[in-house]
Amino acid sequence: MAASETIPVIEAWDVRKDYGDIHALSGLNLRVMPGEIYGLLGPNGAGKSTIIKIITGLAEATSGGVKVLGLSPEDSPVEVKSKIGYVPETTMLYESLSPRDFFEFIASVRHLDKRVADDRVTKLSAAFGLQEYYDSPIATLSMGTKQKVTLIAALIHEPSLLVLDEPLNGLDAKSGRIFKDLISLHAQRPGCAVLFSTHIMEVAEHLCTRIGVIYKGRIVAEGSLDELRSKATGAAGPQATLEEVFLSLTHEQEEVAETVKALRDAFSPATA
Ligand SMILES: Nc1ncnc2c1ncn2[C@@H]1O[C@H](COP(=O)(O)OP(=O)(O)OP(=O)(O)O)[C@@H](O)[C@H]1O
Ligand SMILES: [Mg+2]
Repeated sequence: MAASETIPVIEAWDVRKDYGDIHALSGLNLRVMPGEIYGLLGPNGAGKSTIIKIITGLAEATSGGVKVLGLSPEDSPVEVKSKIGYVPETTMLYESLSPRDFFEFIASVRHLDKRVADDRVTKLSAAFGLQEYYDSPIATLSMGTKQKVTLIAALIHEPSLLVLDEPLNGLDAKSGRIFKDLISLHAQRPGCAVLFSTHIMEVAEHLCTRIGVIYKGRIVAEGSLDELRSKATGAAGPQATLEEVFLSLTHEQEEVAETVKALRDAFSPATA
């Protein structure tokens, strides 16, 4: 590779992942370049968390390959993990520790300079208003506050790639806003990128530089919202919202209509 050639932050090719008879991923291709905020948008069970786990080295692909900054998560797990900050779908925290203890633990496991790590944690905690919970056991914190702890822990080592699986679920409006700014700032740092999955159309619409629509284990469409609009058919025209585009691309419009009808029937008063 020529020295001037930019290495993708994420490269995934023909990734398949089977769980027994379930094809969680069936030939997924993905490339995320530095500076990008790539949003994976897909229905429940589409394979979002599965590809995220493969990229972060928490699961192995059945076939196909993944590279993070040119490194394979399977062959170089420690190096790849040092380049990634990962916020999982469900927070996994040591509930008896306080945020302060937890951040110190993470900094020591990652062999970070204590002063640098403390400074970073202090600034991030202030941004999210976490200081007042700093010495409380994590078990006593609200879901959104736990999510902030997870997010800060993912950023302590200044990773190049930030990977977030459904990150905004528990955050209130103010924290959501700070979080979005933080994502934008992260992607602007040299060589950095963000990959996240979401169901929240508004987030994908306003934050992502590119959106990949994932459906049944494959990326079925990819691009900016305008590019996706032009690819979508049916009800999705030039003025379509991302929700309409999404439903059209995943062929779920009919299913939604049928489900709504079934719900109406279920909720309508029984006729004697
Ligand atoms: N450990 C597992 N064992 C068996 N099947 C699994 C496992 N993990 C995921 N699957 C299956 O793989 C498919 C993709 O799951 P995945 O969690 O990647 O979906 P998702 O897009 O993240 O969905 P959601 O929006 O609900 O989080 C689903 O059919 C799921 O049931
Ligand atoms: Mg998921």
